[in-house]
Amino acid sequence: MKKIDSIFVLGVLIAAMLVVVVPKLIFGDRYSEIIGLVLYSLVIISTICIIVYRRLQNQIINTNVLVQKRLSEDYKQIESLFSIHSILKTNSPLPPMRDWAISPDFASILISLIFDLKPRLILEASSGVSTLISSYCIKKLGIGKLYSLDHDEFYASKTKCDVAQHGLTDIANVIHAPLKEVTIKEKRWLWYENKVLKEIENIDLLIIDGPPSTIQAMARYPALPLLYEKLSRKATIVLDDTLRKDEKSIVETWLKEYPDFEIKFVDTEKGATILRRMS
Ligand SMILES: C[S@@+](CC[C@H](N)C(=O)[O-])C[C@H]1O[C@@H](n2cnc3c(N)ncnc32)[C@H](O)[C@@H]1O
Repeated sequence: MKKIDSIFVLGVLIAAMLVVVVPKLIFGDRYSEIIGLVLYSLVIISTICIIVYRRLQNQIINTNVLVQKRLSEDYKQIESLFSIHSILKTNSPLPPMRDWAISPDFASILISLIFDLKPRLILEASSGVSTLISSYCIKKLGIGKLYSLDHDEFYASKTKCDVAQHGLTDIANVIHAPLKEVTIKEKRWLWYENKVLKEIENIDLLIIDGPPSTIQAMARYPALPLLYEKLSRKATIVLDDTLRKDEKSIVETWLKEYPDFEIKFVDTEKGATILRRMS
């Protein structure tokens, strides 16, 4: 209860006493028990009313803060969506973004990175909208190739269908690569397995948005130890979801183990980290 509420309760008490003192002067002690009871009840009722009012007031304030935050986040995503669609003229509607898929602000980062780096080879861990966005950029640049890995057969074939529907089959190669156990520094991890990973060389841009965090702790950690030798001299890595504790730990561990990368955190809906290899 706030100080002002205590003053209010005291005020109620004093007012009630005044109201009772006058009848008492008139009627004597005949009603003193009833008067005491009425006074006591008044104080209890006004205290309860104030507590309920304060709780409701706090809830309204908290809800307002949340709604404002959500509105401003939604506005940022709409802004990014507008720029995506004004830059990339898609042949078909894009699948829904956010949630499991990348958010529009992360898609904007991908577009900027691809136009800036003009990567010859992009490898992507986990397929989806990100595959379409990256492929449209490559198409616009007129040079480059994308390999996209998906551990899940259903989502791999869904992305393959989307790629075909958008007319991007000559750019994007979506590969179903189930997760298999690998050992890194005597510790066992799960990572994508496919012969493409053995053949691939000189990755200029590595996009990491999988595997899902549910499959193991620090699920995306193996990406760098397993692909380090396959990165080009000036490779860039972009990792989504770096607002999550696990992804933060992954970045910290990578930086300790591979000090030839400089990092930049981008404040997106899910948090993104860009790692550039310094030559
Ligand atoms: C974070 S998602 C990858 C999203 C992708 N980069 C995109 O932009 O759409 C990681 C993996 O989760 C799986 N996945 C995608 N959507 C899913 C859903 N709605 N429910 C469960 N798993 C999903 C896919 O196998 C995908 O490779």
